[in-house]
Amino acid sequence: MTLSRTAAIRVVAPESSSTPARLAAGVAHGDAATIADISAGLLAPQASVSPKYFYDSLGSHLFEAICELPEYYPTRTEAAIFARHGADMAASVGPDATLIDLGAGNCAKAASLFPLLQPRQYVPVDISGDFLQRAAAQLRQRFPAIEVTPLVMDLSQPLALPRSVPVPRRQFFYPGSSIGNFTPHAAVAFLRQVRENVGADGGLLIGVDLVKDPTVLDAAYDDAIGVTAAFNLNLLRHLNHLAGANFEPAQWRHVAFFNDAESRIEMHLEARGALTVQWCGGERAFAQGERIHTENSYKYTVQGFSRLLADAGFRVDGIWTDDARWFAVMHAAAAYA
Ligand code: AVI
Repeated sequence: MTLSRTAAIRVVAPESSSTPARLAAGVAHGDAATIADISAGLLAPQASVSPKYFYDSLGSHLFEAICELPEYYPTRTEAAIFARHGADMAASVGPDATLIDLGAGNCAKAASLFPLLQPRQYVPVDISGDFLQRAAAQLRQRFPAIEVTPLVMDLSQPLALPRSVPVPRRQFFYPGSSIGNFTPHAAVAFLRQVRENVGADGGLLIGVDLVKDPTVLDAAYDDAIGVTAAFNLNLLRHLNHLAGANFEPAQWRHVAFFNDAESRIEMHLEARGALTVQWCGGERAFAQGERIHTENSYKYTVQGFSRLLADAGFRVDGIWTDDARWFAVMHAAAAYA
């Protein structure tokens, strides 16, 4: 079957009142590659969906709300590290850099460092185009001396920067511990790509979430008022939009826990009852309690993450943490020319 950009509506009649609910699949707005990617994940023995599909417009706003939650310590802890050690970080980065902000979101973290880092050009990169353009427009007004050139890019795809991003003094900025959303193997592959895009005089300033008491971690990913649950469940709405799926979010439950053996938080969506889901080009029956794995968030030690950076061709030349050592910001320079 060929998947067109906008797939046809399919209507599936219920077989009998006792069979699980089967709703009509809808119109798919994703491209063929996106639908194929979603379909492959949903049909895998352990169903999974890439966390990149969290970030439609509502998902991006929900993530901003997560960052405000008392339980979600990474954002405020990292911000406190920036506030306390920003001048030392600026000394490692150097002035007049081209600051390339990977997964920039609302650009607020980089903007908070502009007065110290004094970049010549700022390149916010994000998958959520509308959100990024709005943030970039506001930044141009606030910092007219800095050239702001946003790039809409999927960071799960090969990192290819256009010619408009000058090579000298490229400093990548990857805050928020988003590196934790890759497996360690994929993280090294991603960091190697960053290394390939860093000139001989460039570097990387990166936020890393550290291993800590699992009760702190569990609460951070399953907050009391359910914002993280809404963020996870919103993924289903986004899949409905992209793949013409007929997920009913109310039929699913948010599950998050720390997997000690893997040193990662896992997020899943669990079927509340037996149900069948259809999407453009596929369908799957889920048993009650069956899960879709939606995200991993790996937690590192400083030593463990330094090894990853070394494997990717970087030399660590700055490490800053909070007093409790919950979070680290690290600067790494090219280890060779
Ligand atoms: C974007 N990323 C670093 C977040 C994290 O902590 O892994 C995503 C997130 N998922 C649930 N809460 C926050």
